[in-house]
Amino acid sequence: MKNDTSNLMRPFGLPDSASTPVVTPLSPSVVYASSSPDMLDAQYNGDIAGFTYAREGHPNAQALAKQIDALEGVEGGLVTGSGMAALSAALLGLLKTGDHIIAGDQLYGRSLRLLKEDLPRLGIEITLCNTTSAENVLAAVRTNTKMVLLEAVSNPTLRVSDVVGVVNAVSGKNIKLVVDNTFTTPMSLKPAELGVDIIVHSVTKLLAGHSDVTLGYIWARDEETTNAVYGFCVTTGMTPSPFDCWLAERGLLTFPLRFAKVQENAVLLADALASHPNIARVLYPSRTDHPDISVAKNLLRLNGCNMVSIELCDRTRAAANRFVKNTREIAFAPTLGDVGTTLSHPASSSHRALNISEREALGISEGFFRISVGIEDPDALIRAFTKAASSV
Ligand SMILES: Cc1ncc(COP(=O)(O)O)c(C=O)c1O
Repeated sequence: MKNDTSNLMRPFGLPDSASTPVVTPLSPSVVYASSSPDMLDAQYNGDIAGFTYAREGHPNAQALAKQIDALEGVEGGLVTGSGMAALSAALLGLLKTGDHIIAGDQLYGRSLRLLKEDLPRLGIEITLCNTTSAENVLAAVRTNTKMVLLEAVSNPTLRVSDVVGVVNAVSGKNIKLVVDNTFTTPMSLKPAELGVDIIVHSVTKLLAGHSDVTLGYIWARDEETTNAVYGFCVTTGMTPSPFDCWLAERGLLTFPLRFAKVQENAVLLADALASHPNIARVLYPSRTDHPDISVAKNLLRLNGCNMVSIELCDRTRAAANRFVKNTREIAFAPTLGDVGTTLSHPASSSHRALNISEREALGISEGFFRISVGIEDPDALIRAFTKAASSV
């Protein structure tokens, strides 16, 4: 008998229901049907809300963007396929040949690569400087400077940028100030309140928090910039996956709880490791021995982040190998912001492309480690790292 497939015609639609789901439904649909050309026109003109094609936006991306907007105290942010997509949208979507950008010299490695290799290829000039002092940024301003890019807390040396000083330094100069708020998160810093023009995030990290999605976020203060960023993202396909957005929204629900806990754990771990005889230095933004403690106090108030960096007294690769081999309980993985603690060794991962003297200039020796602190029992963490430090 022939199968009757005549009833298998899209769209099926969902069953009618007077009640609403508590969890945001997952919407993997790539296309959205409209009832008429007039309706489509009205959607494209922005007169009515609705979706057309997922690359241009979809419900899960919009739901997640709204949640991050609320945390940052802003409206109109956009979720992208990765943190690098958000950074690329800010830089490539807004700068043009002949423009100049000033950026922190200790940014995330891929951001530095974008600045050093891709922007010059497009005829965009760059200056890298130490952004812990706004004077350095001011001294680098040229007539064609259009943008400044900072990370509030840098990776992996946890230097703190003078965000307030830089806002004042570029004010009235037609320069857009972009802050990558990945490390600090809106729990520690709300850049929009300080007058920053553009915020970017790697949502992959603390916001989503479970190392199972790759996503970014970008928000711009003015409408023209927002439209330019949105247009660039749609054209270049920076679209996030609905499933990633759905997972990230779930992760975000526990973000404030997780952040409070990882910060608490980070302070306890930093203090415990600072007194270990085999550890030469411990970096954490709210510690009184941090090189930028006065900037950190003003900027982050009583907050910090979940990252602790340490340097072993023995700055050799052999000691680094011993340290990692003796922290079996901790994932040795070059990521951050997961619920579980991870350990990374910048000299062999994020900063391996730099030569020894470039790494030394940043204070990154073979004995330098970055710890992304998770939500585990702090005593267990202290035990694990103390044991490893004692073994080197
Ligand atoms: C500070 C910072 N910004 C941006 C990124 C890039 O984010 P993604 O890996 O989501 O592209 C990272 C990644 O580690 C980062 O640490």
